[in-house]
Amino acid sequence: MKIAMVGSGYVGLVSGACFADFGHDVVCIDKDEGKIESLRQGVMPIYEPGLAELVAANVKAGRLSFSTDLAASIEDAQAIFIAVGTPSRRGDGHADLSYVYAVAQELAENLKTPAVIVTKSTVPVGTGDEVERIIRESGTAVRFEVVSNPEFLREGAAIGDFKRPDRIVIGAEDEWAQGVMKEVYRPLFLNRAPILFTSRRSSELIKYAANAFLATKITFINEMADLCEKVGADVQDVSRGIGLDNRIGAKFLHAGPGYGGSCFPKDTLALLKTAEDYNSPVRLVEAVVKVNDSRKRAMGRKAIEALGGEARGKRVALLGLTFKPNTDDMRDAPSIAIVQTLLDAGAEVVAYDPEGMEAAAAIMPEVTMAPNAYAAIEGADAIVLVTEWDAFRALDFARIRRLANAPVMVDLRNVYDPAEVRAAGFEYTSVGRP
Ligand code: UDX
Repeated sequence: MKIAMVGSGYVGLVSGACFADFGHDVVCIDKDEGKIESLRQGVMPIYEPGLAELVAANVKAGRLSFSTDLAASIEDAQAIFIAVGTPSRRGDGHADLSYVYAVAQELAENLKTPAVIVTKSTVPVGTGDEVERIIRESGTAVRFEVVSNPEFLREGAAIGDFKRPDRIVIGAEDEWAQGVMKEVYRPLFLNRAPILFTSRRSSELIKYAANAFLATKITFINEMADLCEKVGADVQDVSRGIGLDNRIGAKFLHAGPGYGGSCFPKDTLALLKTAEDYNSPVRLVEAVVKVNDSRKRAMGRKAIEALGGEARGKRVALLGLTFKPNTDDMRDAPSIAIVQTLLDAGAEVVAYDPEGMEAAAAIMPEVTMAPNAYAAIEGADAIVLVTEWDAFRALDFARIRRLANAPVMVDLRNVYDPAEVRAAGFEYTSVGRP
C-alpha cells in the first residue's frame, strides 16, 4: 500500500518509518527543504532511540523516501496522513490549526486519486469536519474520506509504542475508509492489537481525554507526595499501595517535579478551551493545570530550602534539563521554571544534560552548560537531580563529595535510596519521602 505522510516532525517521522517497516511504500513530506535534505542523508532532526536505524533500513529497502513535493507524493497514495504540528496558539491556549488547514487546502488542490485522509496530529473535536469541508468545498470529484487516528507515542519509547500499542483508535464510520485503515495497520491487526473504531469526534476526544487523565494521575500523586512530606509518609509506598489495585493501575504514579513535554501541557490547555467553547467545564482538569504550573516553581524553592533558605551567591548544579530522559526535548520542561526560580533568588546555575543542552542553552542563556555531571558538580553548594537519565542513577558519591562545595542533594525524581545517600555523608531531600 502507498502511504503519504504530510509533516516529517516527531510524529510523522516515527509513524512513517514504522509504516514502511510494516512493508508499506511510504513517502514523508515536509515543507522544510533543509530537513528533507538531511533526512535523505540519514540525519534525524530529533533524538529518538532506534529511529535513525529504522529509517536507514527502510530507505535501503526502498520502502521509505522523503520529499518536499506534496502534489507529486500524494499521487496513488491510498492513505494520506496529516502529521503537522498543532502548537498552543499564543495568548489563548487554543490549538493552532493553521498548519492542518493549510495541508487540507493543498490536498484539496492536488488530490487526483481516491484517498483516505487521516488526521494524526492532535486536533480538537470538530477539526476533521473542518478538514472535510475544506476539501469538499474545493469541488474535487475524487473520492475521499477524512478519518481521525490519534497517536499515543511517548518520546523516547515511540517506536516500541507504535509497534506494540495498547490500542489503535480510528475515528471512521465509512466502510471503505475502515478497510483502508485495517490495511494500513495490517500487521498489528493480525497480531490482535485492540483496534477501536469510533466516530471521528469520539476519536478526536479520546486523545485529549487520555492525556488529561494521565496528567491528572501524575498531579494527584504529586499532591499526595506533598502531603506525605507533611505527615511523615512515603509516597513510593502510597503509590505502590494504591497502584496494585487494578482499577487504579501502577503506571504514571511516580511523583516528581511536575509533568512537562510537548503533549500534556498543550493538550490539557486545548481540552479546557474546547470545554469552554461548548460551555461544559472540566473543572478537574482546570485544577490539574494550575497545580502543575505552580509545582515547577515550588521545586525551585525546594532547592533553595536545601541551600538553607538563601541562594544568593550560591552555586547550584542541575543534573538533567529535558522534560524526561531519552529525549532532547525541552518543551515545557520543569527545569525551565526551576532555573528561573533559582536565578531570581540570586543563585548561579551550572547544568549538564546528556542530550538537551543545545536546546536548553537557547532557552536559558544564563546557565553554564558543563561537559559532564561531575564537571557541573565541581564547586556546587547543592546538586539538584531534575531528570532521571540513567547516567545519573549511579553517581560516584565519594567523588562528588570531593568535588562539591557542600554535600547537599535534592533528588526531584526519587532516584536514590535516602538511607544510602545519607550514609555517604549527604544532606538529602527527595519528593514525598521522609
Ligand atoms: C505523552 C503521552 O504518554 C503519550 O501517550 C502522548 O501521545 C504524548 O504525551 P510524552 O510527553 O512523550 O508522552 O511523555 P510521558 O512519558 O508520558 O511523560 C510526560 C511527563 O510526565 C514527563 O515530564 C514525565 O516526567 C512526567 N511523568 C510521567 C511524571 O512526572 N510521573 C509519572 O509517573 C509519569
